Amino acid sequence: PTYTDYFFDEPAYNTHDGGYVPLEESDAPQMALRIPPLLKPDKETATDTYYTVDAQEGETQLLPGKKTKTWGYNTTLLGQTLIFPKGKTMHIDLKNSLKELTTFHWHGLNVPGPYEDGGCHAPVYPGETKHIDFKVDQPAATLWLHAHPCPSTAEQVWHGLAGMVLVTDDQEAKLPFPRNYGVDDVPLVLQDRRFHEDNQWDYNKDYDPDGVQGPTPMINGTINPYFDVTTQRIRLRILNGANRREWRLHFSNDLPFTQVASDGGVMPEPVNFTHLMLTCAERAEIIVDFGSVKPGETVTLYSDDTPIVRFRIHEYEHEDVTLPDHLVDIPDPEVTADTPVRKVVMDGMDEYVMMDGKKFNMQRIDARQKVGNVEYWDITNNNDKDSGMVHPYHMHGTQFLVVSRNGKASYPNEHGYKDTVGVNPGETVRLKVRFDKPGVFMYHCHIIEHEDGGMMAQIEAYDPEHPKTYKLMDMDTL
Ligand code: C2O
Ligand code: CU
Ligand code: CU
Repeated sequence: PTYTDYFFDEPAYNTHDGGYVPLEESDAPQMALRIPPLLKPDKETATDTYYTVDAQEGETQLLPGKKTKTWGYNTTLLGQTLIFPKGKTMHIDLKNSLKELTTFHWHGLNVPGPYEDGGCHAPVYPGETKHIDFKVDQPAATLWLHAHPCPSTAEQVWHGLAGMVLVTDDQEAKLPFPRNYGVDDVPLVLQDRRFHEDNQWDYNKDYDPDGVQGPTPMINGTINPYFDVTTQRIRLRILNGANRREWRLHFSNDLPFTQVASDGGVMPEPVNFTHLMLTCAERAEIIVDFGSVKPGETVTLYSDDTPIVRFRIHEYEHEDVTLPDHLVDIPDPEVTADTPVRKVVMDGMDEYVMMDGKKFNMQRIDARQKVGNVEYWDITNNNDKDSGMVHPYHMHGTQFLVVSRNGKASYPNEHGYKDTVGVNPGETVRLKVRFDKPGVFMYHCHIIEHEDGGMMAQIEAYDPEHPKTYKLMDMDTL
């Protein structure tokens, strides 16, 4: 089948205590979509890769006239893309060239916490460089790197600290997916901004505790982008990199597309859609087949009714590829006997957001789970069914399975591993959660202002044979 709706609770779309900012098409001239360059390793061997990731300030030409002050990783805005081949050991220098502290969080990466993971307990002070090493230990997936200093994650991401991270492996490499980076395998970071005087952003002026938004779509740090398509099929690695906005995606003429991967990697089965909603921090890899489109035509990607990317179709070589009905086998482990169902409650809106009735406290460990255990987690969004928001629930340190929504089937594209799941108001989503690596990990709403506002908690994944103690930061030591 081809699904034609967005799923999720439509009345909850855009809920924002009245403060929702609809998207508007910019009148700036169209520009070629920026493709984040691949970050060149400092050194590479058959088994090891060495990278330096440098968080820096800069200026980017986004609109005609004055450049916009922006931040980025190894570039002025967003980041150069990192490639993590499965099985290799990464050695990464984390350099902070900013004037304030930051952290380097690998969203979706299966690494120990809380230091390698790069949440709020792993500050890198201005002028400092820290080093992490880890082995890439998960299937091919589209992940991302973003700043995570509490409580200014949202502001730093708004400045531009968000980059793509692509895990590769042999299994994905065998599937008939486009994978020529920047040509037919294209990252698409969806964000929105408001431009003030002299083309500048002003986070404080636009501040909203339910999430900062702007009317102007910004895709890979490009305003009004077009992309020149030179192949019949393209694969888009879409990341909702917005602080708050849900993207409701569809192409002109309702051109169907196929989702092949979600947050944690390739899904067991491809899913055909004409419409797709992504909540904050979610990723979807989709394959679009332009075989029915003539060279010279343009296919537009919209969010609601606003054009966000124009795909200009050029001459392409015809190909005849059918995706297999089954893409990969994914493990579905049994729940560990005698483990209770965990309950997590996301509560409130604007300043009143909480997790389990509490605001986040860096020094407080809210839960513990044994490494290797498989447990059910019931995530409830306590917002009122009629006036509440969809809260995107994210966990560090794990990729989980979505078991059910209010006891009913999860959405058709939720059958693979995920690290972020949108929870409708009044709904309980059941997850199957397992930690492979020890550490202190955060879990939170990924409307980033909600996270900074306290809708966040942390869990220690522990290995009884190797007990550990962690130095946890607090607001005063930061
Ligand atoms: Cu995308 Cu706690 O992060
Ligand atoms: Cu994360
Ligand atoms: Cu939220």
